Amino acid sequence: MIEVGIDKIGFYTSNYYLDVVDLAKARNVDPNKYLIGIGQKKQAVINPTQDAVTMAANASINFLTEQDKQDIKMIIFGTETGVDNSKSAAVYLQNLLGINKSSKAFEIKQACYGATAGLQIACDYVRLHPDDKVLVVGSDIARYGIKTPGEITQGGGAVSMLVTANPEIIAINETSTFYSEDIMDFWRPIYSRNALVDGHYSNEIYLQFFQKTYHEYLQQTGKKIDDFAALLFHLPFTKMGIKGLKSILDEDSDEYKRLLEHFENARNFNANVGNLYTGSLYLSFLSLIANDHGLKTGDLIGFFSYGSGAQGEFFSGNIKNIDNDKYRLPIENMLSKRKKLSVAEYEKIYEITLPNDNSDFEFDISDDKARFVLTGRKNGHLVYEEQSDRML
Ligand code: COA
Repeated sequence: MIEVGIDKIGFYTSNYYLDVVDLAKARNVDPNKYLIGIGQKKQAVINPTQDAVTMAANASINFLTEQDKQDIKMIIFGTETGVDNSKSAAVYLQNLLGINKSSKAFEIKQACYGATAGLQIACDYVRLHPDDKVLVVGSDIARYGIKTPGEITQGGGAVSMLVTANPEIIAINETSTFYSEDIMDFWRPIYSRNALVDGHYSNEIYLQFFQKTYHEYLQQTGKKIDDFAALLFHLPFTKMGIKGLKSILDEDSDEYKRLLEHFENARNFNANVGNLYTGSLYLSFLSLIANDHGLKTGDLIGFFSYGSGAQGEFFSGNIKNIDNDKYRLPIENMLSKRKKLSVAEYEKIYEITLPNDNSDFEFDISDDKARFVLTGRKNGHLVYEEQSDRML
């Protein structure tokens, strides 16, 4: 049977960050609560000249070839930070990247689950049409509000994946197990830029959905925990993955220690970027393949995807090729070039946005070195620009 999965993958986050120790001091919190209790080190602060569309384009531009752009038949945009209540971000993305217009372009929303829905749809499509390719992105800005308990779990960025037959990176297996239920653990009303969350309740539901889908997966496939080289989690903050592992394994067991070692590699990038919502699970996958030198071809990786509201899905894939540096070096380079903001600077930038009406507006883009930027709005249209001479 033909193998289908992730052939190429890219990541983008903005050029500003906040050190969580500075945030802890400003909020009168013991820094260890953020560093150890939450498991974060740095938090991306999204430049106002970046939105879900530009971040997705910046995440895709470095790996898409002209041939890929012709072969793509579907663009699936997972986001809960859409730029329009009607038009999908996928159509903007198609235009910015110059992708084949004979394609289907649409957006999926189910909190942090959108990119997983996209990945599964993409895999099913390519199984039926093995010569075609699908671009799947997860792109979001995680906002809870200044001085809220969720403030430490903010962040943002995009992960972009090209799904093909005979993939270079990982083949996704057909069986997946899923569960959904109407739950009010995290949501963002139409009127608000910031999410509302019942954080402790959300953690509880997340773990319930993980246990349900994970055990059902084992039952359906006959697999055991020691068949997995690593388990990956949706990471609103990286401690959540530790909670996930502890929810199925005894902390003193060899299996826990083995999987924790791999998870430390898988949370490296997330700890330095923060919450990506839809992209979080896939940034963790990138972090694993970039930083884990113990992985080998054929290794089975388990993925737990969670989107509040709520949807959970457990699935797996087999690693095809390992080339740590290919993924590690560009991301380390991007993260090392970011500018550290003071808490006061972050709070100021946090409030900058397009006016909440249809008026014309122009951003100062001088501090944004990304290839694609949002320059403002003119005649009711969002204006995106490609800065060809200012490659990432
Ligand atoms: N040193 C080390 N650890 C410390 C500490 C210290 N000085 N002080 C506290 N901690 C630990 C706590 O023991 C706790 O650990 P545990 O979760 O393993 O029990 C952790 O830090 C967090 O402390 P807590 O008091 O629970 O934090 P909080 O009430 O401020 O809220 C969240 C934390 C995660 C619930 C909150 O940030 C939130 O709601 N974030 C949004 C998450 C989200 O969006 N979920 C939905 C999508 S999946």
